[in-house]
Amino acid sequence: MTHFSDRVEQISISGIRKVFEAADEDAINLGLGQPDFPAPNHARRAAIEAIESGKADSYTENKGLLSLREAIADKHRRDQGVDLNPDDVIATAGGSEALHIAIEAHVNEGDEVIIPDPGFVSYDALTKLAGGTPVPVPLREDLTLDPADVEDAITDDTAAFVVNSPGNPTGAVSPPEDIAEFARIADEHDVLCISDEVYEYTVFEGEHRSPIEFADTDNVVVVNSASKLFSMTGWRLGWVYGSSRRIERMIRVHQYVQACASAPAQFAAEAALTGPQDRIDEMTETFRKRRDLVVDGLEDIGLHVPSPKGAFYAMPEVPEGFTQECIDRGVIIVPGEAFGENGRGYARLSYATDTESLRDAIEIMRDAYDAVV
Ligand SMILES: Cc1ncc(COP(=O)(O)O)c(C=O)c1O
Repeated sequence: MTHFSDRVEQISISGIRKVFEAADEDAINLGLGQPDFPAPNHARRAAIEAIESGKADSYTENKGLLSLREAIADKHRRDQGVDLNPDDVIATAGGSEALHIAIEAHVNEGDEVIIPDPGFVSYDALTKLAGGTPVPVPLREDLTLDPADVEDAITDDTAAFVVNSPGNPTGAVSPPEDIAEFARIADEHDVLCISDEVYEYTVFEGEHRSPIEFADTDNVVVVNSASKLFSMTGWRLGWVYGSSRRIERMIRVHQYVQACASAPAQFAAEAALTGPQDRIDEMTETFRKRRDLVVDGLEDIGLHVPSPKGAFYAMPEVPEGFTQECIDRGVIIVPGEAFGENGRGYARLSYATDTESLRDAIEIMRDAYDAVV
């Protein structure tokens, strides 16, 4: 008799997807986790040229085109000051695959992976798929992850912990001293820190730092992606970097599940990384204005909103019944518990949508709030 694996039976379709499926067609969608900007024109052109010239017809190296990996290494040299060898980079099918191969290569059956709660949905699911046990750690009042809580959660079975700053679903940005602490914890406890930095460029207050800048050992691997950096979610191009021995293990997984990232997307991402970067500031400025609009609007309604310092999400505390009331009234927001038990009592709003829709959504949320309190 056929059966399904115990691993797959432990996970289910993400709560975000369920909300979308239940939504009305003309609803205002504040559930989306993707920037509402076109991909940079030079990225699109590079893909078109690669396709037309036939350069994108073949498999690339498993790790990805050398020229792309050089562009990625340059980016991280420039932004984090890390001395990165292009051989220690794997181009992946989005940050999603990068997280998958990082966890698959480092987590044994029964190992624990410490994850932020609320946190991005993949950390829990990918840990379970690898046969590991997610260990959710609640966040501080301001929705940042406290390094002391991570340290307290470490046991003999801990294989890894995940840091995600700027964070989804919280919009929180960890201060540099916390990022340095995460590196110390990875070094001292000899556990892997998986640093998910896909929102790196969207920071309004504070600064983005990576644990890899502070670590003395090779116990940090970094996940990043063209998706949110350059508004290229549909291109499915991300990457992971770390020490050679870690990359050598991750490439074993990547080789069999993916062979190589899509060639047209690799050409596009290389152009995005090496071409004009003005779009990034434009996106961040736009998100900052929308953040202010949304936070002011929510506070005016009477909701408490931990001030998001990055990404494009706000996570207000909401009264019982509020999220459903918003959805019923045509504003799609995601219940906090979709991101972990400690997300209960919150909702996630994405402001990757136009200002007019955001204004309309705030008025509808005001009515929804009045209806439930
Ligand atoms: C925190 C975080 N990490 C990783 C990803 C994966 O993104 P992608 O696979 O599009 O690069 C997402 C997407 O929403 C995310 O929010």
